Amino acid sequence: MARHFLEIKDYSSAELQKLLAQSKEMKKLYKSGGRDVCLAGKTMAMIFEKPSARTRMSFETLMTQMGGSAMYIRQEDIGGLGQREPIKDLTRVLNGYVDVIVARTFAHESVLELARYATIPVINALTDFSHPCQAMADMLTIQEHCGSLAGRKLVYIGDSNNVAWSLALASLRLGLQMIIASPAKYSFSADLVKQLEAQGGPGKVTHMTDPKAAAEGADVIYTDTWTSMGQEQEKQQRIKDFTGFQVNRGLMKVAGPQAKFMHCLPAYRDLETTDEVIESKQSIVFEQAENRLHFQRALVKYLCVGES
Ligand code: CP
Ligand code: NVA
Repeated sequence: MARHFLEIKDYSSAELQKLLAQSKEMKKLYKSGGRDVCLAGKTMAMIFEKPSARTRMSFETLMTQMGGSAMYIRQEDIGGLGQREPIKDLTRVLNGYVDVIVARTFAHESVLELARYATIPVINALTDFSHPCQAMADMLTIQEHCGSLAGRKLVYIGDSNNVAWSLALASLRLGLQMIIASPAKYSFSADLVKQLEAQGGPGKVTHMTDPKAAAEGADVIYTDTWTSMGQEQEKQQRIKDFTGFQVNRGLMKVAGPQAKFMHCLPAYRDLETTDEVIESKQSIVFEQAENRLHFQRALVKYLCVGES
């Protein structure tokens, strides 16, 4: 049975720590001009139902750098995931062609269905429900800036969406104190709160509705779009509902000078944040984006080659 990367909760704290350590090591190697071509001859199928810049480019880059190759497959190429043929048929065809599948889908169930029939690793590259590669690259970034993860105060301001969910699970596993500040209507459902509680520590996730009270003394202030891909028709309503939740200079001041600003990108200026904050000294959004490459390099190696 192949090991997949579908949800952070499928991995233990120790495994996640190991992946972070390997990401750091690989980053150092590549930054110093070294190369690890352990994926020579391996191929990756990248199925994308939604647009992407960072995710697609980072996976393609790492496959090329590590000696393999990646195939970017858009909806129109395959006649729509699960439309021209069932996902289970497509998956079994891919089993015979490639070594790893990366998938970005609307329904989380589609990625689970791929994993159900895949004899090769499947990596969740974002669904409506979660974005685990993003959260782990973010953990690497926080670790680099704060020295350690345990006990760090991560304040997420905005929609309790796919990114927030994966950050919450990563925080629980890696010992962060995460506070999510969302309007009540945009907080995790009671069922999801129960699921988080069932995961246990060492970290903690709490919810507040006052972004200023949440922000004080944060190590990291994090935000994401108020309108995720697939929710475009709700955009105007969401802009109204998120009034007061913008991460701007005033909010960063409340947080304090030690606070780093993070955003998974793409960022919508003058909605969830401002150009001033993105361009400020506290912003580490481009290091965060770069770390997608470094974390995923370690992840693909772990899944396709095993431990070094
Ligand atoms: N953060 C992120 O996943 O970016 P893309 O949607 O551009 O891949
Ligand atoms: N929450 C956003 C993340 C984009 C990387 C979305 O799903 O559109």
